[in-house]
Amino acid sequence: MGMNYDRIRDWILAEDSFDADRLGKCEAVMSLGNGYMGLRSATEERYLSETRNLLVAGTFNRFDEQEVTELPNAADLTAMELWVDGERLTLERGVTENYRRELNIRTGELRRSFRWTSPKGKTLRFESRRIVSLRRLHDIAMTVTVTAEDDLTLKLRSGISARVSNTGSQHFSEVEKRFYEKKTMQFVERTTQSGIVFVLNAVHRFFKNGAPLALDTDVNIEHRIIFADYMIPLKAGESFTAEKIANVNTTRDLDNEGLTLPELQERSRADLRESEAIGYAGLAEESAQAWREEVWDRTPIEIEGDEKSALDLFAVRFAQYHMRVFVPAHDRRMNIGAKGLSGEGYKGHCFWDTEIFLLPYYMFTAPEIARKLEEYRYLSLPGAHRKAAENGYRGAMFPWESAWLDDGETCPLYAGTDIHTGLPVKVWSGIIEQHISADVAFGVWQYGVISGDTDFMERFGYELIMDTATFWASRLEPGTDGRWHINDVVGPDEYHEHVNDNAFTNYMARWNLQKAMEYADRLKTENPALYARLDQKLDIAANYPLWRDGADRLFLPQPTAEGVLPMDDSFMDGEYVDLSKYKAQDFVGGILKDYSLEQVHHMQVCKQADCLVLFYLLEDQFPPEVKRASWDYYVERTLHDSSLSLSTHSVQACDMGDDAMAYDLFRKSCAIDLGPVMGSSDAGIHAAACGGIWQCAVYGFGGLRMLNGALRIEPRLPANWTKLRYTVCWKGEKFAVTVTHEGTQLEKLTHGREIELTVNGRTVRI
Ligand code: BGC
Repeated sequence: MGMNYDRIRDWILAEDSFDADRLGKCEAVMSLGNGYMGLRSATEERYLSETRNLLVAGTFNRFDEQEVTELPNAADLTAMELWVDGERLTLERGVTENYRRELNIRTGELRRSFRWTSPKGKTLRFESRRIVSLRRLHDIAMTVTVTAEDDLTLKLRSGISARVSNTGSQHFSEVEKRFYEKKTMQFVERTTQSGIVFVLNAVHRFFKNGAPLALDTDVNIEHRIIFADYMIPLKAGESFTAEKIANVNTTRDLDNEGLTLPELQERSRADLRESEAIGYAGLAEESAQAWREEVWDRTPIEIEGDEKSALDLFAVRFAQYHMRVFVPAHDRRMNIGAKGLSGEGYKGHCFWDTEIFLLPYYMFTAPEIARKLEEYRYLSLPGAHRKAAENGYRGAMFPWESAWLDDGETCPLYAGTDIHTGLPVKVWSGIIEQHISADVAFGVWQYGVISGDTDFMERFGYELIMDTATFWASRLEPGTDGRWHINDVVGPDEYHEHVNDNAFTNYMARWNLQKAMEYADRLKTENPALYARLDQKLDIAANYPLWRDGADRLFLPQPTAEGVLPMDDSFMDGEYVDLSKYKAQDFVGGILKDYSLEQVHHMQVCKQADCLVLFYLLEDQFPPEVKRASWDYYVERTLHDSSLSLSTHSVQACDMGDDAMAYDLFRKSCAIDLGPVMGSSDAGIHAAACGGIWQCAVYGFGGLRMLNGALRIEPRLPANWTKLRYTVCWKGEKFAVTVTHEGTQLEKLTHGREIELTVNGRTVRI
């Protein structure tokens, strides 16, 4: 596997060599999708180390009581095996030349090509193409073309295979499988616990030298698989193309609501006939057009500068590509998994990654999607109330990991291995990583302010902010100092569990309590009817004094004499360790190979940005000298063992005026998935890092930030960039920002209300 960037100016990410033992990275980073489903880019022919994934957003299933719910791996539609004069085409044998696989992020099309000579000496050229349609959310289309260089007979086997699992867990029971007119294949399967029925259809069209070709079909139905075999004799110079048009529907889909299973089976076949008539080229074209309209024309970003800046621009667009591939823009009952829809990692669950790392992109570019992501939180309130009650608290205590709406907490109890005990390590985050509730409230508030969407705030937003405030008020513990404390938590830095008074948690909790009071005060005078409705539901009258007391008396860690904000009440007493060995490693988590998590707890080692996230979310609450001293202190002690860390540091470095470092960290952030080496993408791309890349460009270098309800722009262009242009949606209006080393220009793109903001400290109206 070798990443190749020679065509990034054409929006193409390429792989120019093949390694059957290292398939994961390209399967993930080149994955396709449309928010409804994600399709890992596994090769057509199969290999032992592959992971074939077809994940449909929101279709969670729990394998058994010992496991947490996860996105089930649906039946595979992409495998197409070939035999050449009886020898199976596999790049592990024979001779492969000119290998190339390319993802075009502008069109969402994957292509693959190589020349192969079989062990018996028969040579062919292979080309394949594949899309997941952004226009027709249920459709997958692919083609394989073989051009013979010798006389040979091909055998093609293609079908639908449910012989897949999620790392061993089988989530489906077979329901029905059948051929219609020896042509269309249909496979119906049902998730074992959630009872969601998946209907998958596939049909083939064949061409010889470009002309339609009728082939005898040898139909086969076996255990968990339905497939057909086709024999194709080819003379040297002749080419054969197989097009496979497929679709996936489930009974969880909003557009299938009310249909009986037979109706869904019938309707999905009718849809397939329509797509079949359009054919691969037509489907690919309309999908590419959807990419243009929905993403590239709508939220364009431009970077100009030296040679390196071409890769920078590509990285931002690559992040945008994935942020469309994995966002369920069609359905507010779903959210974004930490690995998007590109792998089984983190089981499709969503985290604080949504609000803190991803939401900014959607809020500022596609507010209607941002709204859905936050409505998901509202619809998940039953699980949050349950979690609070189960833990002896009140209000909304959001799950650290969320899946389906009423699942509540879905964080697994164990993960990884303790190097000393040899036992699995307990994951405390699901129990005590509680800052998520304030993060949700923060996201809701940010969306409400930036979009100006009062309807959202009135129906969902105020309630979410007040309900989470009630949780915090009930969560506080009295200390001997007359203050409230939040003991025994995990802050953002997950290398320290069971800490007291984590700065991020406490400051965010106070912000949450204060915001609830501010809105309650405002609604009482400005919208008494809404206030009365919320009061009835949330008992504001009784809770308000608790919010006030909580906010007033909550202990907030204070800077040391050197100006460093202590991350919690014990970090600074930990042992100082030289981290250079781990910082030099090209993989993450190396420290846990030498020390157990328990030992790391007692060291001054951060997995990821902790206080620094706070400086960036609540930037005006901390004086510059505290930020500076804390920055120097924590940067040295942070390993960036979470993909969320680098982008936060890059944006902070911009704020700190450390331009070279900001750029260096931005590039490292881009390399998490795009870089040639990191193996950590195998289980899926890093969704939050995609949001982080965009934030580095637009929040960091572009200087855009919403602070206390006001918009401000303070750009810091990297030295090797000559221009950065991005678009911003603000309260229903849209404008473009162009930053050069000479200055910053704003251009209003809509003609509604005037926008007021500050640019480099000056108030501007456009
Ligand atoms: C990080 C969390 C993050 C999660 C999912 C963990 O490794 O520590 O902050 O939310 O991954 O991306």
